[in-house]
Amino acid sequence: MPTVIAIDGPAASGKSSVARMLAKRLGWLYVNSGAMYRAVTWLAVSRGVPPGDAGRVLGLLDSTRMEFGAENGESTIRMDGVDPVPHLTDPQVNAGVSAVASIPEVRRILVAAQREYATGRDIVMEGRDIGSVVFPDTPYKFYVDASPEVRAARRARQGLTDAIGERDKVDSSRRTSPLVIAEDAHVVESSNLTLDGVVGEIIGRLKLAGLTPPGQI
Ligand code: DC
Repeated sequence: MPTVIAIDGPAASGKSSVARMLAKRLGWLYVNSGAMYRAVTWLAVSRGVPPGDAGRVLGLLDSTRMEFGAENGESTIRMDGVDPVPHLTDPQVNAGVSAVASIPEVRRILVAAQREYATGRDIVMEGRDIGSVVFPDTPYKFYVDASPEVRAARRARQGLTDAIGERDKVDSSRRTSPLVIAEDAHVVESSNLTLDGVVGEIIGRLKLAGLTPPGQI
């Protein structure tokens, strides 16, 4: 059975950097589930479809070949052969992604694709509902948090326009798979930690849980 490490948390909590570094140190595949929701949002925006229009978004998905793969230890996405990654943090995508992620049928399609990643290989997957919904049975669940001020400062340093407070509100209050802290998740408060510090804390917990012999990672 492949092992899954779930890293959840709010917007700009640093979970992507953490999950990527952890996966690298383990030699496992890093999967960014937020990028999948962003890719669908980009598809809608680029075709002039309002991200909140569930019927039209689903219509677009019906007529688009979505491929989820892996390259150089990381998940990849192609929409009708096009790599959407350069557009995934566009302001319009940031503004529309929570609406797209609230569409139950979109979640059903993407959760199925996320579970596919864990067939035959060990993965580190980051998102909002990875520990609570996508892989509820994994014993390795982490919730990376940071204060709203620290998170806003991180986005500002990245030079990105992103109303993270608004996104968190929608992500936490939607009906289907809202952002929650899974009951058995270990919460890492990252406001005063470096990236190395957060990854170190997670690796410490994994070793305690007997995942990897000390010294291997
Ligand atoms: O992690 P991120 O900020 O790139 O995620 C973008 C959006 O996608 C986020 O606002 C909510 C949604 N999302 C989700 O609903 N479930 C996930 N597992 C990952 C992301």
